[in-house]
Amino acid sequence: MAISRPVVDPMKGRIARFADLKRNGTPIMFIDSVLPGHYRMNFSVVGDTASENPDFRPMMTDPHKFQIGMFEAPPGNGPGWHTHDYVEMFMPLTGQWRFCWGIDPDDPDDLIGDEVLGPWDVISFVPDVWRRFENVSDTNSWGFAVLDPHIHFTGPDPRWPEWMIRKAAEQGLRTDNNGRLIKPGNFSELEAEITAKINGRVDGPWE
Ligand SMILES: [Fe+2]
Repeated sequence: MAISRPVVDPMKGRIARFADLKRNGTPIMFIDSVLPGHYRMNFSVVGDTASENPDFRPMMTDPHKFQIGMFEAPPGNGPGWHTHDYVEMFMPLTGQWRFCWGIDPDDPDDLIGDEVLGPWDVISFVPDVWRRFENVSDTNSWGFAVLDPHIHFTGPDPRWPEWMIRKAAEQGLRTDNNGRLIKPGNFSELEAEITAKINGRVDGPWE
C-alpha cells in the first residue's frame, strides 16, 4: 500500500557521484602539497581525511565511523614522508603506485619496505610507521583511502618530520599548533599554480 504521509528520504546526501567529486578537489590539502614530487588533488568523500586545510568540502557530511578520501597525482608525485596516530588504508584505483615505509623520520630513503601496487590491491599502514607513496605510472592516477575515525584540528596531523616542515615553510606554508593550515596572502594564486601542475597531464582513463 502506498504511503500517503510526506517522507524525508533517509538517503538524502548519501550518494557521491564521481563527476561531482572531480569538481570538488582541494589542491593544497597539506603543507607538502606545494613541494615538487608531492603535487596531488585531494578529495573528501566522507569526513575530514586528515586535512590540514579546513576548507575542504566532504561529499558526505553525515557522521560515519570511518573517513574516506580520494586523490589524483601526476606521475612521480604523492604524499611526502609522514605518519598518523591511526590506521590509514590505501587502494590504487588506476595506475601503479609505489608505497614505502620506515621508522626514521629524518630519512625517507631508510626503508623497512616498499611495494608497487595497482588497482584492487590494498595496503593498510599501522599507526606511527613513517610512510610515503608516489604514482609510478606515466599518466595521472587515482587512489582511494580509508582512515580510522579521528578528531581533526586537535593537534598536528599528519605528523611531519622537521625537515619537511622547514621545506614547506620556505614556500610559505605552515600550520598552527592544532594542525590547521595558516594560509598565506597568496594562497589563491598558490592553489591555481598547483592545480595547473596537477592538470598539466596526459589525460587519465577517467576523463
Ligand atoms: Fe596519510
